[in-house]
Amino acid sequence: SRNKRREICRSDIDRLNAPFLAIYESLIPAEEEKAKQKQLLTSLEKLVNKEWPDAQLYLYGSCANSFGFSNSDIDVCLSIDDTDITKSEILLKLADILQSDNLQNVQALPRARVPIVKLMDPVTGISCDICINNVLAVVNTKLLRDYAQIDSRLRQLAFIVKHWAKSRGVNETYQGTLSSYAYVLMCIHFLQQRKPAILPCLQEMEVTYAVTIDDTECAYFDKVDALCDFGAQNKERISQLIWAFFDYWAYRHDYASSVISVRTGSVISKQAKDWTRRIGNDRHLICIEDPFETSHDLGRVVDKHSIKILRGEFERAANIMQYDPDPCFKLFERY
Ligand code: CTP
Ligand code: MG
Repeated sequence: SRNKRREICRSDIDRLNAPFLAIYESLIPAEEEKAKQKQLLTSLEKLVNKEWPDAQLYLYGSCANSFGFSNSDIDVCLSIDDTDITKSEILLKLADILQSDNLQNVQALPRARVPIVKLMDPVTGISCDICINNVLAVVNTKLLRDYAQIDSRLRQLAFIVKHWAKSRGVNETYQGTLSSYAYVLMCIHFLQQRKPAILPCLQEMEVTYAVTIDDTECAYFDKVDALCDFGAQNKERISQLIWAFFDYWAYRHDYASSVISVRTGSVISKQAKDWTRRIGNDRHLICIEDPFETSHDLGRVVDKHSIKILRGEFERAANIMQYDPDPCFKLFERY
């Protein structure tokens, strides 16, 4: 009876599509924001190169993976070869350099899980986090960006899901809920699973891009221009996909034994990964495999308290999509 209940009718799909697309459009950053980000990156690069001529700066995270909202902070990675000094020495030195320029609120956080320097640029008004040699993040940023180019529905879905998660307070890793990165992977996995599939599995295709970072092989098909018709057989529109996404995480995902895996384009078993029990702080209550660091479960921040909150929110969203006549309002209601 659950299956019968959970079928959305045609008229509903048509009616909800335009409002969801309007929300998506309202979240997209304007072109001039990109220009400002580039401008800030260039001025930071000049400062850094005075001290370290061979160092390079890369954008990563939402400002570079095409899943960023307007007015968000930017994530920058400083890539540097200097082996004579430690990461935290580099971090403190970097903070010094930035401080002496006219940047504001410069703050080094050498003991954070990902050590960073924070700053605010008064010229562009942009806040920025700089980390050191986090090359894997730069590469997984490229993977997300490449997936986004294949089918426009991924960006639409991920924007709506991120907006929902931020509105409902379930995008806070320090409170045991999921990162934006995890939500985007959930969306990619979901679109790989649709029948017919809306996204391919790039890591199972011919390798056209490969790098090795500290023993981790990152290899996949990145000539995504060739895949622009990939999802054409599937005619589902954004409202239907949002409905099905929440239905999946509320009622269909097997939390007890399944791991979602963008790397393989399928669901794999917890058993196969030895993620069946708590080890240290990794509880594996919701399992999302990192596409490159495959021993890394992005759900590891979720504990026995926050899993209830998270699943409660998935059910709330699924029920709103199923029954509420005006879901666009209810779905994003502040918690
Ligand atoms: N990242 C990662 N592993 C994680 C979390 C994040 O490698 N467990 C990297 C990813 O490259 C990700 C970036 O850090 O793109 C930023 O993560 P996050 O803040 O979760 O995502 P954003 O896309 O920046 O989202 P937001 O708009 O919420 O800032
Ligand atoms: Mg970010």
